[in-house]
Amino acid sequence: MAGKAEKLEYAWIALVVVMLTIFLGILGYAVIGEGYSAPEDAVTCNVKKLEEQITPGVKEVAPGVYEVDIVARMWAWQPNEIVLENPKKVIFRITSADVQHGFEIVGTNVNFMVFPGYIAEITWYPPSDAEGEFLIVCNEYCGLGHQNMYGKLIIIRS
Ligand code: CUA
Repeated sequence: MAGKAEKLEYAWIALVVVMLTIFLGILGYAVIGEGYSAPEDAVTCNVKKLEEQITPGVKEVAPGVYEVDIVARMWAWQPNEIVLENPKKVIFRITSADVQHGFEIVGTNVNFMVFPGYIAEITWYPPSDAEGEFLIVCNEYCGLGHQNMYGKLIIIRS
């Protein structure tokens, strides 16, 4: 006859099997039933020829619409200071020249990972009351100077 400890052991095994079944079931349903997938429209780039694919800087392509191209490298953003006048829509294109970084504009919902070999494209609609100076930090540990990797976003309203 199975002892009490043995029964508990089986109960735990059963619990793990049930939990795994539920987890994999949900995952399977998301993929097959709902059609979820990993992003497929990733834009790749060649780290050794970055200058051919991305030009760091701010471009106003239409009134209030900005394209901001950024290259991250240990331990700075290029450009490190971004100035936008009355921005309505901002398209960030960011890549890394070396390791993984994290681009975060503190106090906003802009927060994404930056990988070498990929250009992250993110569209941001700044709230109309967003004004003044915002801190840009790297929130992904990227080496000894990680804590010194920060920049500035300045939004001017008129
Ligand atoms: Cu770049 Cu941390």
